[in-house]
Amino acid sequence: MENFNELQQEILRLKQKKNALVLAHYYVPLEVQDVADAVCDSFAMAQRAARAPEDLIVICGVRFMGESAKILSPEKTVLLPSPDAGCPMADMVTREDVLRLKREHPGAQVMCYVNSSAAVKAVSDVCCTSSSALRIAKALPCDEIIFVPDKHLGSYVAGNVPEKTFWLHDGFCPTHHKIAEADVLAAKKAHPAAVFAVHPECGEDVVKHGDLVGSTAEILDFARKTDAPEILIGTESEIVERLRRELPGKKIYGVGSSFVCPNMKKVTLEALCECLRDEKYKVELPPAELNAARVSLDKMVNS
Ligand code: 13P
Ligand code: SF4
Repeated sequence: MENFNELQQEILRLKQKKNALVLAHYYVPLEVQDVADAVCDSFAMAQRAARAPEDLIVICGVRFMGESAKILSPEKTVLLPSPDAGCPMADMVTREDVLRLKREHPGAQVMCYVNSSAAVKAVSDVCCTSSSALRIAKALPCDEIIFVPDKHLGSYVAGNVPEKTFWLHDGFCPTHHKIAEADVLAAKKAHPAAVFAVHPECGEDVVKHGDLVGSTAEILDFARKTDAPEILIGTESEIVERLRRELPGKKIYGVGSSFVCPNMKKVTLEALCECLRDEKYKVELPPAELNAARVSLDKMVNS
């Protein structure tokens, strides 16, 4: 415990005392990741939450991540340290949008990115994350897929599953959407020997330059394993910081200025400590919505 500051030590004590499982996403501040039991991409977080033996689960991430943990483990208490940390992309699609798309394309199944509300998951056929989207789209027993809400991930999947027809909603992640092709070209010019790892929430004109296109965990894995001594990272800034700390022998560059998800940064050590101490900000969902959303999330976790 000697490398931890006082607040971190208090969190570790509370975690042990309450037998809580703390799961953190890679975009929350590094000092919060350091006290978590596991740091995950969205897929691993859902899997860990679904299988957790602990009765208390704390999700250091945004609201849809807490909702997913609750949907997958409804008998557990799930806490969100920052209940106002939402995901703007998840807010771009509503249940009514999905119902309208279903009416417009009656032969299609609805694939819903996990970055969505429980109400949207409840009217979808299957959920996916960025690391599972290609596999799930290929395996879906239909020729037409309605993909919500991320148009960028949707068009990446559509390009890699040409045998199916895709109907895309027009949502996007404001953080990844800001990364421009000009940023990538300038960074490649400045670091010609670097390989480029990029998240599929970025636009098509950015993703097409990727040597690796993948989720946060896949980007980290690629950076650890590649022989290339220089790596350009096209995703949220915390990944750049994490890799710089973890791989001091490699040169890690972000593209352009730093791209920050402000909602993920709301999950501070103070918020986590208070949440654990007072067991507050429980995730609650209407039972009918939870049960309907569970069908599409279960399919994702067990895929
Ligand atoms: P992944 O960790 O699954 O890559 O998700 C990225 C993201 O934007 C989460 O909100
Ligand atoms: Fe949502 Fe983008 Fe933030 Fe992820 S990085 S939580 S998709 S706004």
